[in-house]
Amino acid sequence: MSDQIKTIGVLTSGGDAPGMNAAIRAVVRIAVSRGLKVKGIQRGYSGLLNEEIVDMDAKSVADIIQKGGTILYTARCEEMKTEEGQKKAAEICKKHGIEGLVVIGGDGSFQGAQKLSHLGINTIGVPGTIDLDIACTEYTIGFDTAVNTAMEAIDKIRDTSTSHERCSVIEVMGRSAGYIALWCGIANGAEDILLPEKWDHDEDALINHIKDTRKRGKKHHIIINAEGIGRSQEMATRIEKETGMETRATILGHLQRGGSPTCKDRVYASLMGAYAVDLLCQGKSNRVVAYANGQYVDFEIDEALAMKKDIDEFQFDVSKHLAR
Ligand code: ADP
Ligand code: F6P
Repeated sequence: MSDQIKTIGVLTSGGDAPGMNAAIRAVVRIAVSRGLKVKGIQRGYSGLLNEEIVDMDAKSVADIIQKGGTILYTARCEEMKTEEGQKKAAEICKKHGIEGLVVIGGDGSFQGAQKLSHLGINTIGVPGTIDLDIACTEYTIGFDTAVNTAMEAIDKIRDTSTSHERCSVIEVMGRSAGYIALWCGIANGAEDILLPEKWDHDEDALINHIKDTRKRGKKHHIIINAEGIGRSQEMATRIEKETGMETRATILGHLQRGGSPTCKDRVYASLMGAYAVDLLCQGKSNRVVAYANGQYVDFEIDEALAMKKDIDEFQFDVSKHLAR
């Protein structure tokens, strides 16, 4: 049992991600096993500022590990970006006896966590986003489920594209990052993979490639386009006009954020949630949990936010040679 901290809070913030429930469950159950009290804060920082705070025990997280979404709900909250909002949030934590806080979310959420740490609340971030765009970690909660969901959906689109001998522009999420697009591009055997980090926006070259694959006898042409590039419908219209190949655009959208988490997301999220509680028990603050080189590790939030991440050159090179 920790000498320093008696009560911790847990919240989810930013876009939801499958596996967040597994992380909440681990935070609550590991904290209880360490003799801590746990308060669940609903609707992220917005709920914290509105004092939407509930007591949690081992039973409150029963029957959730297999569920998508987050039982604590999530929100985006502009007020938390202001100094006033941050001070108010820290005061509310103190009022409710919350000495330590686990924030499950992305880089934006970690900035809120960093501010709370500086205001005396021991805060630990756990990476939760389907986008995989957090630089300090090779794993983020939800990415594995999201890419599997997207992959299955794209397989289905491929069936109908082949039957109709069409071109399909399929837009996947990822905000300004191309990780979901890259993974789906490889996993679905796409003919073109457009990543915001890499694509030179040369639509003429794309159109020539479609004409070429058609000449080589391909029965469909699947283009995975990242949300960070967008314009999928415009691209489809131009492709159809210039290649004569019937073309459809599909924006997969929020279906990628839902659904029962994969085994990997359940297990990694559980271990990260447990790791976060252990950091709080050690009196640590302003840290983010990460997975790097096969191990669970932690970084100072300031350091984590300053890190940069880019598409791996080897993966990109392989993807280009496979997409033909
Ligand atoms: P994510 O956490 O997935 O990156 P957002 O970028 O939308 O998602 O951030 C989630 C929330 O984190 C924001 O709505 C806001 O409440 C909080 N947040 C974002 N940036 C800051 C900041 N600079 N300072 C304090 N809080 C922030
Ligand atoms: O960060 C997760 C994510 O799903 C991004 O891929 C996407 O750009 C964004 O959130 C969508 O946010 P909203 O649910 O607010 O439309």
